[in-house]
Amino acid sequence: MSVLDETYTLSNGVTIPRLGLGTWFIDDDKAAGAVKAAIGVGYRNIDTAQAYGNERGVGEGVRGSGVPREELFVSTKLAAEIKDYDQAVAAIEESLALLDIGYIDLMLIHAPQPWEDFRGGDYFEGNLAAWRALEEALEAGKVRAIGVSNFLERDLENILEHGAVVPHVNQILVHAGNTPSGLIDYCGGKGILVEAYSPIAHGKILDNPRVGAIAAGYGVSVPQLCIRYTLQLGTVSLPKTANPEHMRVNSRVDFEISAGDMGVLRDLDERDYGEHSAFPVYSGK
Ligand SMILES: NC(=O)c1ccc[n+]([C@@H]2O[C@H](COP(=O)([O-])OP(=O)(O)OC[C@H]3O[C@@H](n4cnc5c(N)ncnc54)[C@H](OP(=O)(O)O)[C@@H]3O)[C@@H](O)[C@H]2O)c1
Repeated sequence: MSVLDETYTLSNGVTIPRLGLGTWFIDDDKAAGAVKAAIGVGYRNIDTAQAYGNERGVGEGVRGSGVPREELFVSTKLAAEIKDYDQAVAAIEESLALLDIGYIDLMLIHAPQPWEDFRGGDYFEGNLAAWRALEEALEAGKVRAIGVSNFLERDLENILEHGAVVPHVNQILVHAGNTPSGLIDYCGGKGILVEAYSPIAHGKILDNPRVGAIAAGYGVSVPQLCIRYTLQLGTVSLPKTANPEHMRVNSRVDFEISAGDMGVLRDLDERDYGEHSAFPVYSGK
């Protein structure tokens, strides 16, 4: 059995493939081709977002893949700027229309703050308003699971205390070089599955000599080691690539990293994202 066939079960009983395809920076007109190629390789979990501007293309790829809709798991994210109930309801409808795949498997609040104020103020009321819209979409069967992204403990506590549904997922930055163990454990304790985004550090870890040496010891590439690392942490791994050969390589991760090497990778501190540090998620906040 390939890793592509392995799943986790969310707290509401919905199953989610352990390995997915990230689609940030895949343009709308290229997204259908990338999604079809990934599904052809065997991927069953596709991650997009309103902010990526490619939901239409992702939906086209899903519809044209030749694989039955119910065998695929498609996630999208409510734009981080939406902290208002009516706007959230409208945006959920827009995602459903753009994707045009009947229902969404998982929909997340993209970030606890609008990007321009990332890790700034608390938007507790706004997040609860957005959450209520997601809860209603869940109840209505428009989405099968709901969650959050980039939420820290205090952001999660707000939802846990005042929301009706415990988030099924928290999608956060996790890669060898940046392992937020405390937050991962906190989520685990609340029954919230963690999804690791940027498992290859947005490409910045590819030429890291320490990681390269560990990968060589297993006879695998750096992306394979990094993807395997996030899977062994118990997270969903969402590597992005538009390259079908990379899709294939990234799915060949059925090897075992030793406990010792897991410890080394967990302790690694590599958070220099170079020119990408301009993105809020890599700003170190
Ligand atoms: N929730 C959030 O706020 C958030 C934030 C960031 C990301 N995400 C999600 O997580 C996904 C992944 O994160 P990411 O896009 O930042 O980066 P990533 O997956 O960590 O790294 C992607 C980079 O690695 C390269 N790559 C992938 N496989 C490779 C291989 N086998 N060999 C060589 N290079 C390879 C890709 O280039 P090629 O395309 O050329 O292969 C690309 O440059 C995103 O697409 C998105 O779905 C979510």
